[in-house]
Amino acid sequence: MTILLIYTTRDGQTLKIANTLAEHLHSAGHQTKLMPLAEAIDCDLRRYDGVIIGASIRYGHFDRTLAKFVNRHYELLNRIPSAFFSVNLTARKADKNTPETNVYTRKFLARIDWQPHLAAVFAGALYYPRYRTFDRVMIQLIMRLTGGETDTRKEVEYTDWDSVRDFAQAFSEKL
Ligand SMILES: Cc1cc2nc3c(=O)[nH]c(=O)nc-3n(C[C@H](O)[C@H](O)[C@H](O)COP(=O)(O)O)c2cc1C
Repeated sequence: MTILLIYTTRDGQTLKIANTLAEHLHSAGHQTKLMPLAEAIDCDLRRYDGVIIGASIRYGHFDRTLAKFVNRHYELLNRIPSAFFSVNLTARKADKNTPETNVYTRKFLARIDWQPHLAAVFAGALYYPRYRTFDRVMIQLIMRLTGGETDTRKEVEYTDWDSVRDFAQAFSEKL
């Protein structure tokens, strides 16, 4: 089976997760292709046996191309094995890391016509030293308000790689 992994990323964490999913799917005997969302919008998805889409959150929103992509392709996505995962820092908290308890993911899934066969939320990464000043100050403020890391010299990866592996395994079983 050939699986298309579509991603949108700002600092690379969603791509890192997509790469890890691709590695697990390879190990399960599948072929994979990674494609940025901007490129996938005009792609003929019928060439693939399954599609996984991953997107991160920035200031409360997914990349706006995501909704456009889903509106264009949802009928086919509903017919083939398809999965969605979102990446954000809210999901570092155990009570906010499922499609039902993660507010961005729940709202997004509720307002689209695509019903992914599988959905997950993965905690992302905090890369203070890589952010421009405005973003660093804003993220630090959010972290202070939500009891997270506030030391701007630090880089913290919250992604639970076992969950990523389990997601790949669960998707593989749907193919
Ligand atoms: C400028 C900025 C804004 C962010 N806004 C949010 C947010 O509103 N909610 C949240 O849970 N995480 C937020 N995050 C955390 C990102 O979702 C997280 O760092 C993720 O790993 C980014 O994935 P990416 O590198 O694939 O874009 C933000 C991060 C940055 C740098």
